[in-house]
Amino acid sequence: MRLFVSIAAFAVAVEAQELYLTTTGNSARPQCTQLDVTQNYHFEPFSYTLNETVRYATSVPSPTTTRMYASAYTDAVKSLSTSWSTTTWGSWVPGQTVIIATDSDDPYGQAAWSSMWQQADLHNYTTTGMFSTTVSPTPVPSSELVLPPRDYFGPTDCYNFPKDFIFGVAGSAAQIEGAVGLDGRGPSLLEKLVPDSKPKDYVTNENYFLYKQDIQRLAAMGVEYYSFTIPWTRILPFALPGTPVNQQAIDHYDDLIDAVLDAGMTPVVTMLHFDSPLMFVASDNITKRPDIGYNNAGYQNETFVDAFVNYGKIILSHYADRVPIWITFNEPLLYAFNFKGVDHVVKAHAQIYRFYHEELKATGKIGIKFNDNFGVPKDAKNSSHILAADRFQEMQLGIFANPIFLGKQYPESVLKTLPGAQPLSKSELKYINHTSDFFGIDPYTATVVSPASEGIKDCAANRSSSNSLFPYCVNQETKNVYGWNIGYRSESYVYITPAHFREYLYYLWNTFRHPVLVSEFGFPVHAEAELEELSDQLFDSPRSAYYLSFMSEILKSIYEDGVHVMGALAWSFVDNWEFGDYTQQFGIQSVNRTTQQRHYKKSFFDLVDFVKTRQPHKK
Ligand SMILES: *[C@@H]1O[C@H](CO)[C@@H](O)[C@H](O)[C@H]1NC(C)=O
Ligand SMILES: *[C@@H]1O[C@H](CO)[C@@H](O)[C@H](O)[C@H]1NC(C)=O
Ligand SMILES: *[C@@H]1O[C@H](CO)[C@@H](O)[C@H](O)[C@H]1NC(C)=O
Ligand SMILES: *[C@@H]1O[C@H](CO)[C@@H](O)[C@H](O)[C@H]1NC(C)=O
Ligand SMILES: *[C@@H]1O[C@H](CO)[C@@H](O)[C@H](O)[C@H]1NC(C)=O
Ligand SMILES: *[C@@H]1O[C@H](CO)[C@@H](O)[C@H](O)[C@H]1NC(C)=O
Ligand SMILES: *[C@@H]1O[C@H](CO)[C@@H](O)[C@H](O)[C@H]1NC(C)=O
Repeated sequence: MRLFVSIAAFAVAVEAQELYLTTTGNSARPQCTQLDVTQNYHFEPFSYTLNETVRYATSVPSPTTTRMYASAYTDAVKSLSTSWSTTTWGSWVPGQTVIIATDSDDPYGQAAWSSMWQQADLHNYTTTGMFSTTVSPTPVPSSELVLPPRDYFGPTDCYNFPKDFIFGVAGSAAQIEGAVGLDGRGPSLLEKLVPDSKPKDYVTNENYFLYKQDIQRLAAMGVEYYSFTIPWTRILPFALPGTPVNQQAIDHYDDLIDAVLDAGMTPVVTMLHFDSPLMFVASDNITKRPDIGYNNAGYQNETFVDAFVNYGKIILSHYADRVPIWITFNEPLLYAFNFKGVDHVVKAHAQIYRFYHEELKATGKIGIKFNDNFGVPKDAKNSSHILAADRFQEMQLGIFANPIFLGKQYPESVLKTLPGAQPLSKSELKYINHTSDFFGIDPYTATVVSPASEGIKDCAANRSSSNSLFPYCVNQETKNVYGWNIGYRSESYVYITPAHFREYLYYLWNTFRHPVLVSEFGFPVHAEAELEELSDQLFDSPRSAYYLSFMSEILKSIYEDGVHVMGALAWSFVDNWEFGDYTQQFGIQSVNRTTQQRHYKKSFFDLVDFVKTRQPHKK
């Protein structure tokens, strides 16, 4: 029986939240049937018995069959779109700031490409680390695959994962690849967004050269799904329709996808993960305060929709044959900037969905993934707090998900608050309705929500620079109504909130009525980067507690709440560049920033072991 219910269902919510929040005193112990055992002190011969049985992670099996989810990139596929020309661009000579080029007549030639980087006005963006070419992988020695000691406390559930449950790990291009100014890649917003005083994405984990080794390390741990992102500006340095496709980029991701498949894993690909082409954003707008979200990635630019759809068609046409799961946008709210940016995302997404299923006739799944650290009412008995939480969800999720999942208009709260907001027409709604095969969510943690002190209505009517709560017009906190943190705190915004997570899954499934894909979840352990001993960094019990509690709640959600949770992808498969910062370590592997050597953390073993012990059909 479930305890928690949707915050939308007011009457029931009050009752259930009451149950949850007013539970005080000793915990119930339903598993304890014998509580009156008497003690029996006695002597016995002593011997040391705590020697441990060694266990090793088991690799994913080698692939036996190749499944196709669409036609390969043949003439038939090519004919679905206007043809794309391909080209390659030169490489930098170390120490040189310009590539000597004589093709200044060509609007997309070498000279134009160099000039685009020069206009971006960045320093040192051609910096490489240790590598400048693809590194051949070496097998992971079995000594690295020994399971760590178990934590004393852990889940006690008795459920198994459904046979089609997707378990995997995730990362994103700009956060791991490096090589940003090489092999024809054009500048993205992320190079510009982060100031010179902070670490840039020029080198990061050098995964552009080390991808084969990184994939091999995941396969050795027994991970089945690898979720990665393709940088738009590598495929299309000039971003726009009609500009040439970078052949080196097509070859690189072809090879990356094949490497994943050859290792026995399955790829999940995201098309845009914040690394929007820089050209969509006039530089003076980068730091301007957005109407909504945090950054300006140019989604509102009038050239954005056609350009994104063209890019999406290119990568689907090349790779949809081998990639069964696609995600158009990662967390679009955060970089949407204003209502127009949101509207463009919704419309571009729908076009790509329809191209995938109706024109390419592909048989995999394609969807979108959102950010929203579940807003829960601070006082669940107070109807204005419940309205505030509903509004929080509407402005972060409903704003995209109403039309995409339900064919429903943008929420009233959005239309009444966001400057320039316009409803969708009937025919637009019809076109956009049901254009995602799953509901992707990155539910890292929860947010305690209550209305703005002046009231939501007054706040929403006042978009002045002094009104920091606009447009949500709710207070966001991380303490509950009694003043306690909502859970154990990480290095940053993530708190361990498994009970809220389960409630969230129930909310999403019953509100948007599509299978839920937990497309990212993870925990940057507090001060992990400051630990001097590698072995201390690797023994990351708080991260294990986060993952195992969340995974356990997924099982309860599936079996006790009737929620279709399609899968879960852990963020991140490795410590990475967290947008100007290396101290928030979300990784289940560490990286030595001098040697680029990766090490598995304990939580990686614990998470994989949790899944494998609950997959009897795979034994
Ligand atoms: C410890 O090692 C002994 C001798 O090899 C073995 O008999 C015993 O089962 C082991 N105990 C544990 C807890 O693994
Ligand atoms: C660029 O690299 C040079 C040499 O490593 C360094 O001295 C300089 O500070 C760097 N500039 C910026 C803006 O990071
Ligand atoms: C919109 O994008 C185009 C490139 O397609 C760019 O030239 C233009 O400056 C952008 N507009 C704004 C307002 O940033
Ligand atoms: C900055 O952004 C606003 C709103 O998106 C747009 O109207 C304006 O033209 C932009 N300014 C420049 C200089 O590109
Ligand atoms: C409900 O919350 C509002 C806003 O925080 C507050 O003004 C009001 O007093 C609360 N009502 C009750 C019954 O607690
Ligand atoms: C959206 O599409 C679904 C599935 O085709 C359909 O059942 C539903 O009625 C549509 N909703 C609207 C508002 O058109
Ligand atoms: C990184 O590797 C270098 C060289 O092996 C070593 O000296 C250093 O201690 C390592 N750093 C950490 C944090 O383990």
